[in-house]
Amino acid sequence: MKKIECYIRPERLEKVKKALFALGVKGMSITDAKGHGHQGGIKLTGRAGDYVVEWIDKLKLELVVSETMPLEKIMDIIVENAATGKPGDGKIFVLPVEEAIRIRTRETGEGIL
Ligand SMILES: Nc1ncnc2c1ncn2[C@@H]1O[C@H](COP(=O)(O)OP(=O)(O)OP(=O)(O)O)[C@@H](O)[C@H]1O
Ligand SMILES: [Mg+2]
Repeated sequence: MKKIECYIRPERLEKVKKALFALGVKGMSITDAKGHGHQGGIKLTGRAGDYVVEWIDKLKLELVVSETMPLEKIMDIIVENAATGKPGDGKIFVLPVEEAIRIRTRETGEGIL
């Protein structure tokens, strides 16, 4: 199993979610996140002069998928639907998952996904 953690623009959630569901993804989690990449924030100009917003609102999407799901395709779909081409489009991280259990039935393994 693999876990995909990605940070996306909140306004892209609907598009990304629909595309993932269409591919057969079932379970996923979202969390409000704040962060920045290598620019370290955004510089804005206000009446009092320039200031930097260091923590920018993003959404963190987490999904664990079985080895039978096409990982490359999932990543492509996230990229296609999350991208605007401007800085701050986000990042995708893929992690190995050792075990999963459905608490209600105590079933384990990728069949529970
Ligand atoms: N190395 C990282 N670890 C964890 N989260 C990260 C990391 N890099 C970026 N993020 C998360 O992803 C969000 C979007 O990052 P962002 O797209 O700005 O990355 P970037 O490297 O600056 O690329 P770009 O130049 O396109 O802006 C950040 O706000 C943060 O929440
Ligand atoms: Mg950035």
